[in-house]
Amino acid sequence: MCGIVSYVGEKQARPILVGGLKQLEYRGYDSAGIAVQNGPKISCQRSVGKIIELEKKISSLDMDGTMGIAHTRWATHGEASEHNAHPHTDQEQRVFIVHNGIIENYAFLKKKLQKEGCRFYSETDTEVLAHLVGIQFDGDLAEAVRKTMSQVEGTFGIAVIHRDVPGEIVVARRGSPLVIGLSDEGHFAASDVSAMVRYTNQVIHLQDNELATLRKDDFLISTARAEPIQRSIETVEWHAEDAELNGFPHFMLKEIYEQPETVMNAMRGRLELGEGVPKLGGITPVWEELKKCRHLVIVACGTSYYAGSVGRYVFEKLTDIDVEVEVASEFRYRKLNFPPNTFIIALSQSGETADTLAAIREAKRKGARLLGIVNVVGSSISRETEAGIYNHAGPEIGVASTKIFTSQLTILILLALLLGRHQNLSLTEGAETIRALQKLPEQIRKILSQANHIEAIAEKYHTCRNWLFLGRKFNYPIAMEGALKLKEVSYIHAEGYAAGEMKHGPIALITPEMPTVAILPKDDMYEKMISNIQEIKSRRGPVIAITTEGNKEIGEVADEVIEIPPTLDFLNPILAVVPCQLLAYYCANLLNRDIDKPRNLAKSVTVE
Ligand code: M6R
Repeated sequence: MCGIVSYVGEKQARPILVGGLKQLEYRGYDSAGIAVQNGPKISCQRSVGKIIELEKKISSLDMDGTMGIAHTRWATHGEASEHNAHPHTDQEQRVFIVHNGIIENYAFLKKKLQKEGCRFYSETDTEVLAHLVGIQFDGDLAEAVRKTMSQVEGTFGIAVIHRDVPGEIVVARRGSPLVIGLSDEGHFAASDVSAMVRYTNQVIHLQDNELATLRKDDFLISTARAEPIQRSIETVEWHAEDAELNGFPHFMLKEIYEQPETVMNAMRGRLELGEGVPKLGGITPVWEELKKCRHLVIVACGTSYYAGSVGRYVFEKLTDIDVEVEVASEFRYRKLNFPPNTFIIALSQSGETADTLAAIREAKRKGARLLGIVNVVGSSISRETEAGIYNHAGPEIGVASTKIFTSQLTILILLALLLGRHQNLSLTEGAETIRALQKLPEQIRKILSQANHIEAIAEKYHTCRNWLFLGRKFNYPIAMEGALKLKEVSYIHAEGYAAGEMKHGPIALITPEMPTVAILPKDDMYEKMISNIQEIKSRRGPVIAITTEGNKEIGEVADEVIEIPPTLDFLNPILAVVPCQLLAYYCANLLNRDIDKPRNLAKSVTVE
């Protein structure tokens, strides 16, 4: 978690760093800090709370300087307090460092350093890094960082400055993301391109165990053994406006409304109607083996896991492949057998989720082949997998994932269709699926046009403290995702259940104060879902039904009805999740929640 940003150049650093932190706030937002260097003078300030608190604190201070480092924190070691906020510094207050990651052997190093006379001011793991760099500095900052890297275990993306080396920032990474930005007006390094995209779209992704020394006019990338590295420059696809609200009150709502476009982007250039086959260029390197794949394991966390769970049903419908879906954090505890040609698909918006990364590393050790479906270009998962497919959905800023979920579903369906067409799926079925996929953006727009109606439903039920979400088959994961969305942003307790499981326990909870969102498009699960709704109604539980438009009889059993346009059964989840997202959003808004930065959460979960 946590976000770091640094800049050295010809402009004043403070506004660049504060602006960068605001873009990175999704990575953590319990405290923040900044250090600006002007010659040998370094001004450092820290504050508890969001970036706005730091901004207020430093607004009247003299912080002139054209280089500096900054940090937004999601606490791991030590509470969210000013003394635990970064930048951290060494005994002599000559080194200032910001860090994203976890130093696993910090307790051992801290004891050792304390014996050598170092005094610690925080409870963080990061402070050992500052002391180590300080002790080992003899005029060459990169070398001091290198020596430090060789002593620490764990993960880090760091940016370091030193009073005795004005004009130079050393950055390094192992396991935590770090991107370098290049421009005529200076050089940047940050956890994510969003922190610098306002100034440059020319970036280099630093790789594990690499360092970079950044100066105003040049930069040097090197290995942990001080060997220089040449790395090609990439052009970032998106623009600063993509990370702005553009008139929406929250990023979550903006991103819900972007879905017609992002679902389209997931398909753009990838559909071949005549052949009834999608084209997925990203998997070309493994295509020959993938074609023969009979065993697939999808690993992911949170919302991405629910997308994977829909994916399993879709693969089972369109292909002959055995599919398992595993919560990434549990993957390592399973004793899985990988038959030859087993592929793992890592699904991740950020491409940096520590649990998902750990799962693919374990799978690789066991001989599985690795594919990634990732939104953030150049992220760790995209680099550690052999091949993959990008979402091309632009940055997702709201902590609650929305547009990436529907984009992931779209891509999983394309992949299943591609493999299915090389197995038993006919041209007719392929073409029918592509035609239905092409209609989705317009159909999502139609659902979004019911936003007022959905807001009115939220108005009626947002004070209920417990909700149930039910679905079957393709829509069972949508019930879980609907419940997760509501929990995350409104802090209302919600459970997502397979509707058939309700009678095995959750039915005991049903009262007039507990609404149930029933996801029942007109498919082969419909009649069974109706029976479940009847069971709820007999216990006077209110029912909000999400069903296919034109369904007249549903009004007789449900209290509220939200309609989705008709589509193929396995495409329904892409439509049915949209009302769930809107319900969660409006409930949270009515409850005055911090929608884009819900308490205790972070967008990119880089701790296990
Ligand atoms: O970046 P990833 O897709 O790997 O993230 C996985 C989860 O942390 C993420 O989906 C999380 O559950 C979201 N807050 C859900 O809205």
